[in-house]
Amino acid sequence: MDKRKPLVIGIAGGSGSGKTSVTNRIYNVFKEHSVVVIEQDYYYKDQSHLEFNERLLTNYDHPLAFDTDLLIDHIGKLLDREAIEKPVYDYALHTRSDEKITIEPKDVIILEGILVLEDERLRELMDIKLFVDTDADLRIIRRLMRDINERGRTIDSVIDQYLSVVRPMHNQFIEPTKRYADIIIPEGGHNEVAIDLMVTKIKTILEYGTEL
Ligand code: CTP
Repeated sequence: MDKRKPLVIGIAGGSGSGKTSVTNRIYNVFKEHSVVVIEQDYYYKDQSHLEFNERLLTNYDHPLAFDTDLLIDHIGKLLDREAIEKPVYDYALHTRSDEKITIEPKDVIILEGILVLEDERLRELMDIKLFVDTDADLRIIRRLMRDINERGRTIDSVIDQYLSVVRPMHNQFIEPTKRYADIIIPEGGHNEVAIDLMVTKIKTILEYGTEL
């Protein structure tokens, strides 16, 4: 389908909701075909000019924490079938790393992140919009385990950040974007029916185009 516009799928949802597992499930079906994953997290603004302690004060759950202009520019390039240099984000250092990854254009672009449905310009680039809807108790448990095991955090810091920032920002900015979703997926990557429906829909679009 080279001459066709690539298919853009947005996958939003709160922190710890299971966006990554939904993304991986879809990615694994189409990886032989042609799919690329763009993580909104990798587009946090560069903070290398700030001291480490200053970076800890950033609100990472606010739309303004992201370099959304760069993200839109990159999705636009992939839609024009041009390669991009995707930034890489370092969660331990709270800023971009020096590394970049060259991403070649593909038929399916999955854009995943807490606030991918928040910006109207991004929403307009999407053909399918998903919101992964998982109860807050499960999300905080997953986040605790992940941030301690993978992002170098302490229990106290995760709980403090959750109560002071993650939870209020979720209610103010993330949860309201559910209204923009075409499909709301309860329980993320464990929802076999929802994943199957998505995979079938994507296959149909890849074969016959988006106008179906
Ligand atoms: N974040 C952080 N420190 C940073 C940058 C981001 O703690 N320096 C946190 C933000 O608080 C935000 C979260 O990273 O809430 C976004 O990642 P999340 O959605 O939790 O991870 P994913 O793996 O993308 O999603 P899921 O857990 O749904 O699979």
